Amino acid sequence: MYNKQQIKELQRLTTELISLEKKQGDASACIGDLRHALRFHEYRYYVMSDPLVTDFEYDLLYKMLERTEAAHPHLVTKDSPTQRVGSSLNQSFPTVQHLVPMLSLENSYNEEDLVDWDRKARELTGQTEVEYCIEPKFDGASISLIYEDDFFVRGATRGDGVHGDEITTNLKQVRSIPLKAPFSSHGIQQIEIRGEVMMSKKAFKAYNDMLSEQNLPPLANPRNAAAGSLRIKDPKEVARRRLEAFLYNVSYYHLEKDDKFPKALTSHSGCLELLWNCGFRSPQQEKVVIKGIDAVMRHCASYEAKRDELPYEIDGMVIKVNDVALQDLMGMTTHHPRWAIAFKFKARQASSKLRAVEFQVGRTGAITPVAKIDPVPIGGVTVGSISLFNEDVIREKDLMIGDTVLVERAGDVIPYIVRSQPEDRTGGEKKIKFPKQCPACNSELMKEEEEAVWRCVNIECPAQVVERIIHFVSKDAMDIRSFGTANVSKFYELGLLKDIPGIYTLDFEAIGKLEGFGKKSIDNLRSAIEGSKQQPLNRLIFALGIRFVGETTAKTLANSVSHLLDFAKMNETDLQQLEDVGVKVANSIQQFFSNQQNLEMLRQLEALGLQFQNQKRQSSGTDTLHGQTFLFTGTLSKLKRSDAEEMVEQHGGKLVSGVSSKLNYLVVGEDAGSKLEKAKKINTIRIITEDEFLALIH
Ligand code: IVH
Repeated sequence: MYNKQQIKELQRLTTELISLEKKQGDASACIGDLRHALRFHEYRYYVMSDPLVTDFEYDLLYKMLERTEAAHPHLVTKDSPTQRVGSSLNQSFPTVQHLVPMLSLENSYNEEDLVDWDRKARELTGQTEVEYCIEPKFDGASISLIYEDDFFVRGATRGDGVHGDEITTNLKQVRSIPLKAPFSSHGIQQIEIRGEVMMSKKAFKAYNDMLSEQNLPPLANPRNAAAGSLRIKDPKEVARRRLEAFLYNVSYYHLEKDDKFPKALTSHSGCLELLWNCGFRSPQQEKVVIKGIDAVMRHCASYEAKRDELPYEIDGMVIKVNDVALQDLMGMTTHHPRWAIAFKFKARQASSKLRAVEFQVGRTGAITPVAKIDPVPIGGVTVGSISLFNEDVIREKDLMIGDTVLVERAGDVIPYIVRSQPEDRTGGEKKIKFPKQCPACNSELMKEEEEAVWRCVNIECPAQVVERIIHFVSKDAMDIRSFGTANVSKFYELGLLKDIPGIYTLDFEAIGKLEGFGKKSIDNLRSAIEGSKQQPLNRLIFALGIRFVGETTAKTLANSVSHLLDFAKMNETDLQQLEDVGVKVANSIQQFFSNQQNLEMLRQLEALGLQFQNQKRQSSGTDTLHGQTFLFTGTLSKLKRSDAEEMVEQHGGKLVSGVSSKLNYLVVGEDAGSKLEKAKKINTIRIITEDEFLALIH
């Protein structure tokens, strides 16, 4: 899509545009450049999954373009990156007819089925060995897109296969769907393409974390999340869901001139390549073209083995006859094409017995029912405990103790109960009783109107205190490795740890006397605790566990003050001025910072040396690393990779994506691989450890 020269040029352009923004220059002169750069970065991020700029830089450029277009509305074009965000808040979805019916796929579950299908394919095509193109079977929601004269003009759901819902505006929120694609350079005037909208495992987790912060039950799996997101009436909300799209099929095309037939369209792999070259995230890199069914089966098995490593869910592989002329020869049934078959991976569902429901107290006092089932293996993991989220879920799913329940676990997604099987009941099942008192401290539980969650409101409830400490030390918060849930509970029970500041004044001598704590583990714990004092403000804010303040809100909050205690001086109206902070969040923050116990805890933490300053603000303009380039490799032990990278930029340094003579510092973590080897061969590169890196900036 972009060659080396163009990439270099676009990188240079990006730097120039960003510096223009810093100088408050005139952006209107470079509206075309801004679009050009933004499209390139969208492509790198959403199609290549290999961004060359930080989210922050992308947003900077995006906002420049938005501002310029607002000042010069006549310059807005419909393919401008800003036009993804639709404004119609109450759109309904008209029904549209697909140009060609969207068929389904025949399924196969074992090698026998595949061998059978291959035999039929050979018979129908008259070939002794058929060439197949294999690609993942993406587990999302099917879509169909139409481009005319290079513009994306219509997008629809699969619907009943013949008609679907027109969801163009929502699909424009999906950044890997280009608003304009150069089909005309291939002689194509109109094209209908098929694919799957997906939510990556990461985006799904982030979305569910956000829901759980609001005490809403999480979505079951990324497929449901993607399908549901496409039907949302507010395009801005759709944009927030960070959907992706894989396009894997050309179902119809109309050429500009009949005599100029693009060769790419004569094979399926050619179509994937054409789509890729037009800027789509087709499975160009995931696909393989092989001959013979034995090779197909081997490939499917090896792909299944790495299923969990993929950033998105797949539920099988799709095997397609590669030659389009042979596809036409084979034809289709009313249900599926005969030239393709899905090889489905092993199900990640299992039945088990619901034995008991326990009630756990979370850090905000929310009571979560947890189902205890007879342990069953699902997709390589044994599942014994499953969160039921709240009382309503128990009722909606009609669960009773003793029921047979169907359990699903998709990838690294948390397992959930799909439904009970009331038809298997014997009469001995028991109703699930929700407690009236907190199981940890016995205080009366409360439920706010409009909420589904029962809550213990005793702030000193021991279960809540422990959960708050566990959250504080957790990976996404202060990331105090080697602390962990078990140690927090143990130290708390033994009276060695009472509250969050207590983490920093632990009696290591006493801990050393406990079973299982040798010198090495104590040293690790001590240095992890010490290291966490340097965590940036956004992590500290998230770690405090303020209701409704997730990682993203914590970042916004951290960027809006110079010092953490500035929040104690702000009222709800001030807080609501901040991006993403609504009434509910503002109220929660204000309550947190007006509570004397919380303020006392914060004073202690500050005295203990935690980072209360907004380093970004402090360091804006510091140039310690000016002119130096950095690259990180291997697993860092103290810093999260993204935080370390941010630190480089904050101190005026630059990040590069590969080892070359342009690299000044390679920061090496554990298990560094080929980058380290390559760097050793270039004398000018300084190879440093994480500690040495930290020393450079402190
Ligand atoms: S080809 C006529 N390829 O699976 C072509 N489908 O279970 C039919 N799917 O409705 C589709 N990944 O939504 C094809 N690589 C892939 C796919 C794929 C996922 C979906 C598609 C289809 C469903 C059938």
